[in-house]
Formats: sequence, C-alpha cells, structure tokens
Amino acid sequence: MPDSSASPLAQQFAALDVFISEHQALWRPRPFTERQLAWEREHPELASWLRSRSLEQAEAAHNHPEQLQAPEPFARLARQSSALSRLPSLPQHPLPDSPPRLSVDVPGRKWQQIQAFASHLSFAQQPQHWLDWCAGKGHLGRLLASDGRQLTCLEWDPQLVASGRQLSQRVGINARHYQQDVLAADAAQHLHSEHCPVALHACGDLHVQLLKLASQAGCQQLAIAPCCYNRIHTSHYQAMSQTAKASNLQLSLEDLRLPLSETVTAGARVRRQRDQSMAWRLGFDLLQRELRQCNEYLPTPSLPGDWLHKSFAQFCLDLAALKQLPAVTTQDWPALEAKGWQRLAEVRNLELLRNLFRRPLEVWLLLDRALYLEEQGYRVRLGEFCASSLTPRNVLLLGERLPTGAVDNSGDIH
Ligand SMILES: C[S@@+](CC[C@H](N)C(=O)[O-])C[C@H]1O[C@@H](n2cnc3c(N)ncnc32)[C@H](O)[C@@H]1O
Repeated sequence: MPDSSASPLAQQFAALDVFISEHQALWRPRPFTERQLAWEREHPELASWLRSRSLEQAEAAHNHPEQLQAPEPFARLARQSSALSRLPSLPQHPLPDSPPRLSVDVPGRKWQQIQAFASHLSFAQQPQHWLDWCAGKGHLGRLLASDGRQLTCLEWDPQLVASGRQLSQRVGINARHYQQDVLAADAAQHLHSEHCPVALHACGDLHVQLLKLASQAGCQQLAIAPCCYNRIHTSHYQAMSQTAKASNLQLSLEDLRLPLSETVTAGARVRRQRDQSMAWRLGFDLLQRELRQCNEYLPTPSLPGDWLHKSFAQFCLDLAALKQLPAVTTQDWPALEAKGWQRLAEVRNLELLRNLFRRPLEVWLLLDRALYLEEQGYRVRLGEFCASSLTPRNVLLLGERLPTGAVDNSGDIH
C-alpha cells in the first residue's frame, strides 16, 4: 500500500523501488556476456521475436524502447516504465541576451546544454553568488554571472582553471577560479551559505560530495544535473537518503552503468566503429569458448583503435595471444565474423528489454538525491531541462531552503 503521508517524491521512489526490485531477473543479465538469458525460458515468444530482428531495427528502437510493439510482457513493462519514470517539466524562463563572446570556444552542443540549464533555474530568492562545481573552464558560471553577480569556480584540472580565469578576465566577469579537488578534505572551505552551487554533469562522487557539503554549509539553493552514477569509489552504490537506505536493492558498478547505456550523440562513423568492435568481440567470444572448452564469457581489455584496421582473423589471433589461449586451429574466419555480426543483432535486440529499466533506474538514483535534500530541509524539484537528444543526462535537481514563514510558488507556508 502506498504511504499517502509520504511526499510525492517518496511515493514515486517507492513505486520505482518495487518495479526495479521485482524485475531484476529481466534487467540484470547482460546479453553481451550471456549467450542464453534465464528470462528467455519464461518468455519464449518475446525472446524469439527479439532474436529474429535486425541490427537496424534494434538501432531504431534503442533510444525509445518503450515505443516498441513487442510481445508481452514487453508492452506492459514499457507502459509501467514510462509511467513510473515520468518527471514534471520545470518552468523555463527566457535568458537575457548574453554577449556572444561568452560562447566563444564552447562546443555548440555544450553551449545549448548550458543555456538550457541556466534557463530552468528559478528560485524564490535571487542567488547572489554562484559557485560552479567541477566547472571546467567555467562557461556555465560565466553565463549565470553575466548580470554582475559574483562567481566562484572550483575545478581540479590546472589547465582548465587557467583557461577559465583568462576567459573570465577577457569578458570582464567578476570570478574567482580555484584549483581544488572537490573530494579533498579542504573542499568545504569554499562553500558558504550565501553560495548557490551549480553543477552541470559532475560525475558520481563529485556531485554526491556537493549535495553533502552544500547542505552542511547551509546553502539556500542549489542546482545539479548529475551524470556517471558509476564513478564512485565504492564497489556498490551507497544510498544517500534514509528512504533509499531502507531499500533492499543492492546496485553494483555494472548495474549503475545501465542508465548510461543510451547512446545519442555518436555520429555515423563512431557508431560503425563501435558496432564493428562489438561484432568482432562477439565473434571472438565464440572462438574463445571453443578454445577453452568452456561456455563462459571471457573479459577482454579495451583495445587501441588500430586493432580494427587488422583483418578479423588477425584481430582474433592477437587477442587470443593476449589472453594466452590455446593455439587456434583452422577456422572459417568469414563464417565466424558473420556469426559475430549475427550475435550483435541479437544482443542489441535482447538489450531492448533491459533498456526499459534504464530510465526507471536513473530516476530511482535521482530520487535518492532528491529525498536526501528533502531530509536536509530543502524543497526539491526534479525535472528535465532539455531534450534527451541534446544530452541523455537531462535531469535537473533544484533544491531550495525557504526561510521560515516564506510562501513558495505552491502556496505552502514554511
Ligand atoms: C564532465 S566535466 C563537466 C565540466 C563542466 N561542468 C561542463 O559542464 O562543461 C567534469 C569536470 O569535473 C572535473 N573534475 C573531475 N574530478 C574532479 C575533482 N576531484 N575535483 C574537482 N573537479 C574535478 C573535470 O576536470 C571536469 O572539468
């Protein structure tokens, strides 16, 4: 029974927690490493339908698996996936015209993300001092501070810090750029209650650290677009909120990669290379199972790009030598390569089922952060700040502590 006294965010978390936990057998197994998935025995019609489809068909469904008309239980899970991971849209406001020199040197897609992020910041009280967390060169911070408010940028890479400082001076923005490892013990010295921290695509531990330090420092507002949930120093996910800590869901680093498995930005050439690399690895996988007389996946290291310029036969021979496998006997290499491509089509289509859990798992992780902020006394909003085609990491977490007695946009008194 849903707990009607829980906040809407907590209710959504609870429903997602049930959905993700109940279907672990569908999303955990990876078709790339397992030739036969346990769920295929339970859902033979769905499995053979998916296995019969082409690589192009898999590619076409990759970004929106929930729209695929596949046999049950796919359609039912797709409906649940969409309903449970739906996020409200955040109010957007037009940005004042910013000087064109602010976007000099910023790749087009990155500038669009920065503008989208900035145009979705709305707080009851105007922030006075922006703090760009893991700022890179500080492009986001400069856009926000272009109206004259103060800006502090924290970044670990000294070259980015130096370029950022130069850019700020050139455009006359009142900014301090500090070289700082935000995970180091002395990072807290840079966070003060008058700061409004912003973080666009700070990975795993980096944005988790910000959530903790900003709430400790008493920051009144903050805005974070998280990414790379798997970039953490522990072997398993450490829940932040009390609610998520009570969940039985244990997430490994591999599980945390699922929300990141959507590819949207790759061009045709990069996609072709990625496909070839995976098809060849899947072909090699068949070979290594035969050579080792063992029907198990054998992890292989990432390889330099020029390996794909070899012949398929040479690729396999070199990889077999690298993994110190028994000598390769006569092979029909063209047939083995064709099997690799055939497996790639099957893998990509079978993956569509686990891809239905990509967004639910991401929203589960985002809600954990949102609930943590609620527990720290923030009013929290979570919503998309741009289309997923601009960046799949398109969710913005806004936290705001309202002064006692203040009335927020919803009319609630705090
Ligand atoms: C994905 S980039 C995002 C940069 C910028 N926010 C943007 O959107 O363009 C992540 C940034 O975090 C910085 N970074 C990584 N580890 C860090 C650390 N421990 N402390 C501070 N910055 C770090 C990287 O150098 C990089 O500039």
